[in-house]
Formats: sequence, structure tokens, C-alpha cells
Amino acid sequence: MRSFEHLRDEALGCTRCRLAEGRTQVVFGVGDPAADLMFVGEAPGFHEDRRGEPFVGRAGQLLDRLCGEVGLSRASGVYITNTVKCRPPDNRDPQPDEIASCRPYLAGQLAHVDPGVVVTLGAFATRLLLGDVTGGPADPWRVPVGSVAGYRFALGPRTLIPTFHPAAALRGNADALSCLRRDLRLAADVLAGRVPTAAEALGLAEAAEATAEPVPARTGAEQLRLLE
Ligand code: URA
Repeated sequence: MRSFEHLRDEALGCTRCRLAEGRTQVVFGVGDPAADLMFVGEAPGFHEDRRGEPFVGRAGQLLDRLCGEVGLSRASGVYITNTVKCRPPDNRDPQPDEIASCRPYLAGQLAHVDPGVVVTLGAFATRLLLGDVTGGPADPWRVPVGSVAGYRFALGPRTLIPTFHPAAALRGNADALSCLRRDLRLAADVLAGRVPTAAEALGLAEAAEATAEPVPARTGAEQLRLLE
């Protein structure tokens, strides 16, 4: 595996997609390179593009506040990044080919940081990483975030917790705000061992220990049913 520094340097000079043309700088990610918790958002906005750091605008301030309520802080044990590392023009949605071009950087960040818990903020990150749970193509379902928010999915050994994007709460969506609160608490509880990880909840961890056999992968749909 290439070093984290190498991956970052490669990303900082990336021209794999059209977003390179309009960016001020690449917003690779920040935080503890050995974090237990990774947040994956959508894309850098105006402030992030200027500062080179994810979630420094209003959505980031709300995220920081909500994290603080459950004892989490971006200052320790947390890594934050996005599905795409460059700001889309006028903050438009990232396009499927842009997300696909940026995919190896997120995969590398997950492999290097190796967090136990991954919280996806909003539809783009949620659909992308649920694609890894199902083993299917990226964006396998047009799944509404509200229907998967607050569940634990086994992303290999990691627990994936989808939730709303803080920007949805800032737009006045009260459900998004209460789900974010609930789901960040769930993330903190999984990290603290107060709540089982997804693999434990699905019986994957015990089965692996008992048989020492590879546990057959469950589809995302099966996982959804098991967690209901
Ligand atoms: N919204 C995101 O999805 N990511 C950021 O970094 C900032 C706002």
C-alpha cells in the first residue's frame, strides 16, 4: 500500500476529472490519521475550497456542535473527508463520473486511517458506501437517506452509520437535525463499546470466532432486514 503522504500528494495534484479546473485547491481531508471515526461528506463548498479543509463553513460548525453534544471532537480521534475532494462549480451536486474518479482517494483514506466507525453525511456518501456493503455498483439504490439513517451496516470490519447532511438541518429540516443527533450518539456509543458494532449485531463477529471460517457476506438488503 502506498503511504498516506504519497496518496495525499497525488490527490493534491489530481487532474482526473473536470473539477480540477475550477478549484482553488484540493480538499483532501483532515484529522487524526489513526482515527476511530471517519466522517464522509459530499463535496467541499466555498469556504472549504478557500481553506483547504473540509467542513469549515456553517455545516461544519453545526457538525462540530452536534459532535460536542455527544463527547466527540474533531480535535481527536476523528478524520473528516468528502466523496469528492474538489469543489463543484456553484456547489452543484457531484456527478457520478467525478465521484468515481475520486473514489480511489476515499478508498485509500479508509484503508490507511482504518476507522472502526464511518458516518456518511448525506445521500452521496451514503449511497456510495452502501454500494460497498452490497458489493454492488456505486449508487446501487436511489435510497432516501431517511430510510437508512441510524442503522448500522457492516462495511467489512467497520460499522457504517448513514445519516443526514448537516446542511439539510440548516435548511430547516427538523427531522434531519434530530436524526443527526441520534446518529452521532449512536456512533459515540459504538465507539465506546456501549452498543454492538454492526458485525456484532449481525452475528458476524461471533460466527467468525466460533468457526474460524470465512463468514458468507450478507447483502445490504439482508443486513437491512436483520437490523430492523
Ligand atoms: N459540505 C460537505 O459535504 N463537505 C464539506 O466539506 C463542507 C460542506
